[in-house]
Order: sequence, then structure tokens, then C-alpha cells
Amino acid sequence: MPIKWDPRFSVGNSTIDMEHKLLLTLLNALEVVLRNPHEKDSLRFFIDQLIESAHDHFHHEEKLQLKYMFPYYEENKEGHKALIVELDEIKNEVYRYIEDVITSQEEADNMSKRINHVLRDWLIDHIMKSDMKMKGFMNDAR
Ligand SMILES: [Fe+2]
Repeated sequence: MPIKWDPRFSVGNSTIDMEHKLLLTLLNALEVVLRNPHEKDSLRFFIDQLIESAHDHFHHEEKLQLKYMFPYYEENKEGHKALIVELDEIKNEVYRYIEDVITSQEEADNMSKRINHVLRDWLIDHIMKSDMKMKGFMNDAR
């Protein structure tokens, strides 16, 4: 089931919201591709896009937080670091699959489940708990 954007996810800054929407969209796309894991080119494309967009987004968010003296900057940055570690592990797992190190369908299914679970948990959790504190600090800043 795709995650749909919900107004409750808004942190009150339209640029940050747009970047969060992009991450959600990439996550949903990755879920669809993982249902057809033999589509290895698509798998590689979407995992790479997700990782690149996540890096760009975290970097942008941290820059804005510094500029607007967001008091939870350090905490948010630590969260980003942990997410990057987790994303890198997922990327390695997906790449092992793409390179055929993982071969059984059961292993592929387990990989899909884990990726979906972790990605949904961290993305929604990070936006709802950590990013939400930005509300009111940088409303229409870019
Ligand atoms: Fe964010």
C-alpha cells in the first residue's frame, strides 16, 4: 500500500514539504519495483534516486536549520546521520540482489519486507517527530 501525503505531514515550509513529498513518491515507486524484483534496472534507478534525494534533502534541511537557528539542529542532524547509515545498508542489500548474490525468491521477499518496513518507519517517524519541530521556525524560507 502506498503512503499518501497527508496535510498532517506538513512542517509549514512549502519547499521542505515538497522535498518530503518527493521522498514519499520515490519510496512508493521503490515498493512497486520491489514487487517485480527481476526489474533490476528499475530497482537500481529508484534506490539510487532515493538515496541521492535523501542526501540532498538532509543537506538542504540542515542548511536552513542553521540559518534560522533551529534549536533542535544537532538532534535532527544525528537523526539524518542514522538514516544515512540505514539507507547505505539497504543500498548494499539491493545491490547484492542486483548482482545476484542473493538468489532465492524467499530472500528477495524478505529483503522487500525489511526495506519497506524500515523505510516507512524512518521516513514517517523522522518527519512526524523530528522535522515537525521546525514548524513555526522557517515558514516560507528557502
Ligand atoms: Fe526532512
